[in-house]
Amino acid sequence: MSLNFAEKTMDTMPAFAPVCRSEELEPGWGEALLLKGAQLALFRTDANAFYASSHHCPTTGAKVMARGILGSTVVDGQLVATIACPLHKEVYRLDTGACLNADSPALPLHQLIEGDGQLWLEQI
Ligand code: FES
Repeated sequence: MSLNFAEKTMDTMPAFAPVCRSEELEPGWGEALLLKGAQLALFRTDANAFYASSHHCPTTGAKVMARGILGSTVVDGQLVATIACPLHKEVYRLDTGACLNADSPALPLHQLIEGDGQLWLEQI
């Protein structure tokens, strides 16, 4: 049996659910989201890129990441968006979750996509 492209895509793409309008996130800030009992952090950078992560700092488990400090840095010649934990300032890449300034576990990320002003979060 062969599958067409749409069927293959449906099998490999995670399901997404609407979470909020993109205009509800202020540029340069994060917002906390409680979804199905999970505490998440949504971010909108000043460049209007959108990211979602766990709200828990990977280092201590403190529920603070939505109040972190958004920024960016150059890694291997590429500009990447970052979030710094507001407590001890460990800096995490928002594209991979890797910690850039300490030997800490990665920040768990979730796919967040924007379309027609709507933000869609990968189902958790
Ligand atoms: S609580 Fe996040 S880096 Fe210490």
